[in-house]
Amino acid sequence: MLNNLKTLTLTAAGLLVANAAVAQDKIDFATQIYPFVKGSCAQCHRPSHTDERGRTKRPKADLVITNKADFMKGGESGPVIVAGKPDESPFLQRTLLPIDDDDHQPPQGKSPQWTDAEKALFKKWIEQGADFGAWTEDKTPNDGLEWDGKEFPADSTRTAKG
Ligand code: HEC
Repeated sequence: MLNNLKTLTLTAAGLLVANAAVAQDKIDFATQIYPFVKGSCAQCHRPSHTDERGRTKRPKADLVITNKADFMKGGESGPVIVAGKPDESPFLQRTLLPIDDDDHQPPQGKSPQWTDAEKALFKKWIEQGADFGAWTEDKTPNDGLEWDGKEFPADSTRTAKG
């Protein structure tokens, strides 16, 4: 009995420590996730807009990721993020497919691929509950999408400055 109690107490203490650790490195969507989501995915998954030749461009697969409501709603096939379930979240799974798979995202050569570090961070963000924090929308979804054609090194993450 005494031993059981001891185990219980130790377990409870361990859980408290684990919770504190998670709370401490809770991922912040706006500064740690959105910069690389935008940089790699917004080019094709932003609201309808007119391109430089005056043509209307609609979001691919009806998926818009530049505001929380549309991102959570998902695309023509349904939700793309399932909180707590990275394996059921197409928005992550597509980036993990082999680069020559037809379903791989982003399409090769169109925007920078997510780095391994970014994929791992996005997975952790889903595991932590896919919490957008105070972020609700990008007010300038068409800005900052230029790409020099160079991929980022596997261990880098594109976090917002400041
Ligand atoms: C160059 C354009 C382009 C870029 C950049 C791009 N996508 Fe896509 N995306 C598409 C097209 C086209 C489709 C529809 C065809 C398909 O489903 O593969 C699509 C479809 C999707 C779908 C399926 C949505 C649904 O409901 O069917 C997901 C998920 C997705 N993209 C995720 C991403 C992610 C994650 C990124 C960034 C890492 C990204 N895309 C970047 C063009 C793009």
